[in-house]
Amino acid sequence: MESAPAVIVAIDGPSGTGKSSTSKAVAAQLGLSYLDTGAQYRAITWWMVTNGIDIADPSAIAAAAGKPEIISGTDPNAPTISVDGTDVAVPIRTQEVTSKVSAVSAVPEVRARITELQRSYAASAEKGIVVEGRDIGTTVLPDADLKVFLTASPEARAARRSGELKGSDVHATREALIKRDAADSSRKTSPLAKADDAVEVDTTELTLQQVIECVVTLVEEKRAGK
Ligand code: DC
Repeated sequence: MESAPAVIVAIDGPSGTGKSSTSKAVAAQLGLSYLDTGAQYRAITWWMVTNGIDIADPSAIAAAAGKPEIISGTDPNAPTISVDGTDVAVPIRTQEVTSKVSAVSAVPEVRARITELQRSYAASAEKGIVVEGRDIGTTVLPDADLKVFLTASPEARAARRSGELKGSDVHATREALIKRDAADSSRKTSPLAKADDAVEVDTTELTLQQVIECVVTLVEEKRAGK
């Protein structure tokens, strides 16, 4: 039997839509690689903070953008992320990094560097890859075989995020999330946006399992040439 050709799946959307859980599960179920591009932006932000770069100064961020070496492990069952050989999976999820990542990821030199890295991962994935982010379908991989844009109401997104960050205040989470989405959607270089040819899936009333099944079906339909 001939093996299926590599399939490239782009999954975009704001935070709290179940993007990471869905992307990992779809990749695992279909035997594809998985790339968390938000983790890469968080990793470069962590490096900037750790190295004392002034986050309020885009030219300082731009000048340093090429320095850190970011490596993503693309096994959906055990994704990893390291910067200059240090495992940063835990520190990139701190409140400090989360509050600064939009400013760092808005700098064009940062986006150019990380976009190039993402394209090289997609090109080298033998069986194909699920890439999740904000600008994958519009900018990073405009020729992806399937583009999915996940949405959900702000209330549902805040409730999911608060559940992940156990014990956090839903109201504060909702405000922080709306602020970050607004920054990510309004930046000049490759903002969070739905590609014209993306399939939009509103996850507000769906369970995670239903969203996974929906995306797996979409990939299978693409593979079958429907
Ligand atoms: O998915 P996440 O919350 O871990 O992403 C963190 C931040 O990274 C998000 O606020 C915006 C930025 N990001 C981006 O600009 N482009 C991407 N493709 C992915 C994430």
